[in-house]
Amino acid sequence: MRVAALAEIPPGEGRAYVVQGAQVAVFHHRDGRVSAVDAVCPHSGGPLADGQIDSCVVICPLHLNTWDLRTGASTSGQAPVRVHGVAVVDAPDGPQVHVTPAR
Ligand code: FES
Repeated sequence: MRVAALAEIPPGEGRAYVVQGAQVAVFHHRDGRVSAVDAVCPHSGGPLADGQIDSCVVICPLHLNTWDLRTGASTSGQAPVRVHGVAVVDAPDGPQVHVTPAR
């Protein structure tokens, strides 16, 4: 399901969307890749879409726990997040971000 134009998510940042009832954080990496994981931090409900990212890790802004965006595993000992399907689809009005929520 389309959630946004890629241009709406600045490189290096994330945005949160509700996709078929799932709260999903979509990240636009500086190299053009996109990642999507649960938007609600499993530690204490923080907004993961507001977290800083490096090449494959997001840092929750509340208590600085970290998750691998490829696997959803926490790299700081917390419960995992779900990884959602995400793709960038070319369209006449520019690249569009499509998300398929994990079940
Ligand atoms: S709420 Fe995210 S690390 Fe605590």
